[in-house]
Amino acid sequence: MKKDMLSISALSPEYIEDILELGKRIKKDRAQYADSLKGKSIGLIFQKPSNRTRVSFEIGMVQLGGYAIYLGPSEIGMGGRESVKDVAKVLSRYLDCLVARTYKHADVEDLAMHATVPVINGLSDYAHPCQALSDIFTIKEKFGTFKGITLSYIGDANNVLNSLMCACAKVGLNLKVATPKGYEPDKKAVDAAKKFAGSSGAGIEFSHDPKLCAKGADVVYTDVWVSMGQEKESARRLKDFKGFQINDDIIKAANKNCLIMHCLPAHRGDEITDSAIDSKNSVVYDQAENRMHIQKAILLKLLA
Ligand code: CP
Ligand code: NVA
Repeated sequence: MKKDMLSISALSPEYIEDILELGKRIKKDRAQYADSLKGKSIGLIFQKPSNRTRVSFEIGMVQLGGYAIYLGPSEIGMGGRESVKDVAKVLSRYLDCLVARTYKHADVEDLAMHATVPVINGLSDYAHPCQALSDIFTIKEKFGTFKGITLSYIGDANNVLNSLMCACAKVGLNLKVATPKGYEPDKKAVDAAKKFAGSSGAGIEFSHDPKLCAKGADVVYTDVWVSMGQEKESARRLKDFKGFQINDDIIKAANKNCLIMHCLPAHRGDEITDSAIDSKNSVVYDQAENRMHIQKAILLKLLA
């Protein structure tokens, strides 16, 4: 049976560790994997803009000896010009794997249900699993372990947090989350994360207090306050998230030399200051680079 990569919750801790281990080997010795996906091709069906996800999948696939075709918002019109089902059926006849970036999470699930080839979620309104796997890979790369490490996420409870929450809980990384009142994380995602944390022994805490959240953090993580598709809510969100910015004060409240993470793109001056994102402890470009190594590992696991 074909396998998909739609959300972290569907992956076992062992499978996650396998991907991280393979990503490490790929990063260390790129040449060894140069022909691993020779003759294979992937399609990138993107309903929203992208820098990292698009480029790292396209170039990652080329580095594995395969081919990638980008199908942007104006091209195949998935769900508009043609049903998700027909797109899935037709593209499965041409391609070996589909990477989809959709507005609705239900669309990526629909695509996976009808496709006969693996489908990878390249970000939906609910989840960003490739980002979360790359992020925990970056954390393991920096600390050598998840044990005893605490990640504090301050900001919007969005797709990035949903996946990160689940990934931390699965691998035993402690997580603290602070969001403004009225922007609490999705209940289903929280319940799942709490259940996984129960098995791994990870701590998981929620509050509305950014400083309290930063206390004891080895990693401080944030993401944009206005995600793609929420542009109409911009004015309200910018007001409601004031006080949840990653800045020198928040970093002072965290552990000495805590890492600073952001999935990018960043809105400098809103959720994070220049001094934080450009500080010596910021690893945002390592995170971006690691997207490619981890996605190559995912492609190998699904296609090789
Ligand atoms: N972090 C991330 O997914 O970036 P892009 O939106 O540029 O792909
Ligand atoms: N939460 C952001 C992540 C971008 C990579 C968004 O969905 O726009």
